Amino acid sequence: MYTKATDKLIKKAAIWLVAVIAVVFHIGYFGFHNRVTDVGYRPTQPVPFSHKLHAGDTTNGGLGIKCMYCHTTAEVSAHSPVPPTSTCMNCHIAIKTESPRLQLVRDSYEKNIPIEWRRVHKLPDYVNFDHSRHIRAMIDCSSCHGKVEEMGVVSQAKMLTMGWCLDCHRNPEQFIVPARPISGIFTGVKAAAYQPNAKAELGTPAPITEPSFGYVPTDVPKQEVAGIPMPKKPGHGPENCSACHY
Ligand code: HEC
Ligand code: HEC
Ligand code: HEC
Ligand code: HEC
Ligand code: HEC
Repeated sequence: MYTKATDKLIKKAAIWLVAVIAVVFHIGYFGFHNRVTDVGYRPTQPVPFSHKLHAGDTTNGGLGIKCMYCHTTAEVSAHSPVPPTSTCMNCHIAIKTESPRLQLVRDSYEKNIPIEWRRVHKLPDYVNFDHSRHIRAMIDCSSCHGKVEEMGVVSQAKMLTMGWCLDCHRNPEQFIVPARPISGIFTGVKAAAYQPNAKAELGTPAPITEPSFGYVPTDVPKQEVAGIPMPKKPGHGPENCSACHY
């Protein structure tokens, strides 16, 4: 139908077209596909861990384990990493010991290799975010992460943009969910002494997994316990650039 030359030209054009589409798609996907604003992002995790089961409502089949039981350092440090395998094995050494869904957890424990959980929330490196500063102001995890205890698979609930941080810093009362019992913020060892009628002495671990446990002190005396400033009522967050950027 065509001459050999035209035929070649059409073939060439077709190859170029495919190549151009591929390049455009890549730029679109990897260039403009922004992890920070990616609400709903939920990577597939190596172990089918469910927050809904572990931290979920006890009247609805959940175990009601406090966030702080697993994410132990949110109160006192910048990061609140995913728990190590040993935390899982506190229970799974005895519970569901044959479950194939926990094979990776058992392997990780026996061989002492950490499970490679995939990161869900991630700010750019030039942003300075510190969990403890927020948690000490009794800001509930759900203010920023949504109701994780209702999620079978964790997904990002908010766009982690600068505007998001600043909106709350300017008008905290509109955005802050005060600490709820399920989060277990400052209800562990450190705050045990401030519970009403608490028999607990300072340093006596409170049973953080017990569902009824979760009293949140609202007006605690300004005091330090083991070098950790006690929680306080939130003020306004900073708006100056250097507070959040190195
Ligand atoms: C039994 C332990 C356990 C409890 C209790 C728990 N978590 Fe987690 N959490 C994990 C593990 C394991 C992961 C990593 C796997 C995943 O993302 O599902 C995780 C991941 C997360 C992430 C995503 C981290 C990222 O990569 O950005 C958030 C946010 C989170 N948890 C918040 C919470 C909150 C809020 C609660 C309380 C309502 C809670 N967790 C209770 C074990 C726990
Ligand atoms: C406080 C105790 C406790 C801790 C800590 C705990 N789990 Fe569990 N987990 C349970 C219980 C109880 C079940 C549900 C058993 C059932 O369904 O009857 C369970 C179920 C599971 C299941 C589903 C197993 C199946 O066969 O259906 C997975 C997967 C799992 N846990 C992973 C983890 C991981 C990963 C961690 C650590 C981040 C962890 N768990 C920490 C108590 C715990
Ligand atoms: C003021 C908002 C805010 C609150 C409150 C908050 N988080 Fe986060 N969280 C973030 C942001 C932003 C990131 C991403 C941090 C980064 O990339 O450096 C994050 C990251 C995480 C991660 C991933 C690991 C890490 O440390 O970066 C976990 C797990 C987590 N949060 C759990 C919790 C838990 C549990 C609570 C409640 C005790 C909580 N967060 C309260 C904003 C918040
Ligand atoms: C839900 C509300 C809320 C969100 C969202 C939030 N903050 Fe804050 N932030 C606060 C409040 C309230 C304070 C003041 C706490 C206090 O009174 O100690 C604060 C304080 C801070 C401080 C200063 C602490 C100090 O020592 O003075 C920094 C830095 C900060 N936030 C960074 C961020 C960044 C970065 C983000 C976004 C990734 C963010 N915040 C998101 C409410 C929020
Ligand atoms: C409350 C915390 C906070 C304060 C205060 C803040 N920033 Fe940011 N900034 C962020 C966060 C979080 C991001 C990352 C958002 C993203 O990647 O979408 C960011 C991103 C940026 C970026 C990159 C923008 C982009 O779209 O990639 C610039 C530039 C920047 N900030 C400049 C400033 C300047 C200038 C100020 C002072 C007027 C300031 N920031 C104050 C939290 C803050």
